[in-house]
Amino acid sequence: MTKRVALITGASRGIGAAIARALAEDGYSLTLSARHEPELQAFAQTLREQTGTDVHVVAANMAHEDDVRRLATAHAGEFDRLDLLVLNAGVGASGTVAELLMKRFDLVHAVNLRAPYLLVSQSLPLLRKTATSDPQRGAKIVALSSITGVVSEPQLAAYGASKAALISLYETLNLEESGNGVAATAISPGYVDTDMAAWQEEHISRSDMLPASDVAELVVAVSRLSSRAVVPNIVLSRRGDQLWRA
Ligand SMILES: NC(=O)c1ccc[n+]([C@@H]2O[C@H](COP(=O)([O-])OP(=O)(O)OC[C@H]3O[C@@H](n4cnc5c(N)ncnc54)[C@H](OP(=O)(O)O)[C@@H]3O)[C@@H](O)[C@H]2O)c1
Repeated sequence: MTKRVALITGASRGIGAAIARALAEDGYSLTLSARHEPELQAFAQTLREQTGTDVHVVAANMAHEDDVRRLATAHAGEFDRLDLLVLNAGVGASGTVAELLMKRFDLVHAVNLRAPYLLVSQSLPLLRKTATSDPQRGAKIVALSSITGVVSEPQLAAYGASKAALISLYETLNLEESGNGVAATAISPGYVDTDMAAWQEEHISRSDMLPASDVAELVVAVSRLSSRAVVPNIVLSRRGDQLWRA
């Protein structure tokens, strides 16, 4: 049987690392990307030792267009196959509309929206080719949005707007590409217990945040769907009396 292959951005820790581990355990070969190569290499080596899977590492900054293009090219050169593209790298920003600096707004939109858009467009030829070779399963894209992309939160206007735009982007992509066997799913969780959510620990205990492994379970489930199914967006809420709050 042909070995399935995934490319994961923001894969060195947090949600991306949990997804990488789950996919490695499910038998995927992987390209892992993040900015800092030593952490990425150390994690890749752990995965190789623990799961026996083939892991390729590409250090790249998703705020830089050249790096995004280089990542797509490096993955294709290594594997010539892409069953699952996981657009997970993202940065947060908290601040009111009155106060947030435009420099921060631009970085958030460069990493959270522009880079996924470009990486998808650069990866589509390989995704389509892989979908053609596996018509039952097709090829998938999964993108980490956020519940703040579905329902607004104070202080998170720039971040929420970038995540809402991602949901729209993948809805359109489904209209354009699902007929070619390439389907996209946004996953929109509330607070997940990672470094990114640490600033909220004063208000929400880590044990009340979602475990990253729950997001990884959803990615694996989506990856197993047939090419006939399209799941545009999955909202993952935290337990308690605030269903539509991060
Ligand atoms: N944690 C939450 O509460 C939560 C909730 C909803 C949605 N999300 C979304 O889930 C995704 C993952 O979040 P997380 O909580 O796992 O974040 P995290 O713990 O901060 O990890 C972020 C990952 O992305 C990489 N990264 C950061 N900036 C990058 C850049 N400019 N270029 C390339 N890689 C970059 C980091 O590695 P390097 O630092 O080495 O680059 C790291 O591997 C994000 O898109 C986030 O918006 C998170």
